[in-house]
Amino acid sequence: MAVCALLLRWFAPVLYLLLFVIFVAFLVLCAYIKYIHMKYEHIPGPPRRSFFFGHLGVFSEYTKTDRIIYDKLIEWSETYGPVYRLNILHTVVLCVTCPEATKEILMSSKYPKDRNFHKRIFYMFGERFLGNGLVTVVDHDLWYKHRRIMDPAFSSLYLRGLMGTFNERAEILMERLSEEAQNQTEVPMLHMMNCVTMGVIAKVAFGVELDLLNNSSPFPKAIELSLLGMTYLSRDIFFEYKPWNRAFIKEVKEACRLLRTTGAQWINDRKRAMQNGENVPKDILTQIIKSAGEEENMSKEDEEIMLDNFSTFFIAGQDTTAYLLAFCIMELGRHPETLEKLRQEIDEVIGMKRDISYDDLGNLTYLTQVLKETLRLYPSAPGTSRDIPFDMKINGLHIPAGASAMCLSFVSSRMEKFFKDPLKFDPDRFHPDAPKPYYCYYPFALGPRCCLGMNFAQMEAKVVMAKLLQRFDFTLVPGQSFDLRDTGTLRPKSGVICTVRERQTQ
Ligand code: HEM
Repeated sequence: MAVCALLLRWFAPVLYLLLFVIFVAFLVLCAYIKYIHMKYEHIPGPPRRSFFFGHLGVFSEYTKTDRIIYDKLIEWSETYGPVYRLNILHTVVLCVTCPEATKEILMSSKYPKDRNFHKRIFYMFGERFLGNGLVTVVDHDLWYKHRRIMDPAFSSLYLRGLMGTFNERAEILMERLSEEAQNQTEVPMLHMMNCVTMGVIAKVAFGVELDLLNNSSPFPKAIELSLLGMTYLSRDIFFEYKPWNRAFIKEVKEACRLLRTTGAQWINDRKRAMQNGENVPKDILTQIIKSAGEEENMSKEDEEIMLDNFSTFFIAGQDTTAYLLAFCIMELGRHPETLEKLRQEIDEVIGMKRDISYDDLGNLTYLTQVLKETLRLYPSAPGTSRDIPFDMKINGLHIPAGASAMCLSFVSSRMEKFFKDPLKFDPDRFHPDAPKPYYCYYPFALGPRCCLGMNFAQMEAKVVMAKLLQRFDFTLVPGQSFDLRDTGTLRPKSGVICTVRERQTQ
């Protein structure tokens, strides 16, 4: 008892001091949050839900439901105008739909990628994820160095050479659809498209054969899990501390590890082939290895960046294109007149030809319109965000330095202000003679950090769609939802279930 009293006498001052320090830190935090609130208060925005968390609760709430947060952001854009403010703890995020500001922010390299967001997904639950890969790297010089090295694998000359692989992979899909048509089974088109685009990226980027249409593989699940983990992590700051999420977090970490160990193995195989003087393709894998520099000077961080880029290209090069294809099939299923017009174009340009050429793609103008309109309503990567490192003006409003800006193609593309009757699927909006949308439609982002794989994705999507429409009739199975599911990227919730029949004209 006496010992306890002695200890208490000794430790009491330390305890009081500690409580005092915590109390002062809390007051400083409150004062700082209040200061940030006041600094940006003149910018309109929805009322804050809480002093500390600001609007964060809305994001975590949407993550738990079937609704997508972007619908709420559209509603707020319509209420609060071309730039409005959201408070997330001590930070301020602006949602920008003003075309001039979108142009200024995205077209210039003065506005770096949003550091807060990218810091959160550098590691995922302690496991390195996209790190300093090309999509997520924030440092301009590091990004510039890697982008320049990657560019040759996306040059139009190199892409032309990929037509063979696009045709070959699409052909495997056609064979599989033929079987499904004969068996009269219902076909989950989203899954089919995922298999095709993953087969393409594995072959074209890494020189690896993955026939997912006929064999099972852990990669689709791993990609889905890692993207889902990224979404939860970035929208709910307490996600990883909630005990009931532990099993999911374990799965996500395993998924990240699978991608990185696969990357390490494929990179080593390629390096060995290079050392043995074998003739290796100048594909994305070769460029990833080149970007890490000379073998003997390679640091641990260089090695990690190779794996960051492996995961980046495996993910970025696959799911967005699969969702574009699935949404396109969904909309064509809902619009028979568009489908008919498109089929006529395919019949005229492609006819009965088995292999589609690069020049054919240029002649498929209506298909280009259909794909553009699909990306307007369903930009699989809904937008991007940038830091605002210095004071600027948006729509006449003073924006103090220190905030970040979200530029969301999903939001502006669905606003009446920019597109009349925005929810109507109308490919004629992108007719070559129609006025070009002015900085309110950018599904591949814009400016220096725009999508490196834009042409790649468009070519691949055209080959798959052209072959599909050349050979098959399809009908959406009735009763399915046309809603979207937000898993970091946007996908059709239903899976786009169709019945398919070989075309009679064949
Ligand atoms: C329909 C398909 C696609 C869409 C809608 C799309 C969209 C986008 C968007 C919006 C960004 C900017 C992301 C951000 O700022 O956070 C981006 C970046 C990027 N995408 Fe895509 N993408 C598609 C397909 C592809 C493909 C097939 C590849 C590779 C084969 C690819 C590789 C990349 C890379 C490397 C970046 C980062 C570019 C940089 O920052 O330098 N994408 N994409």
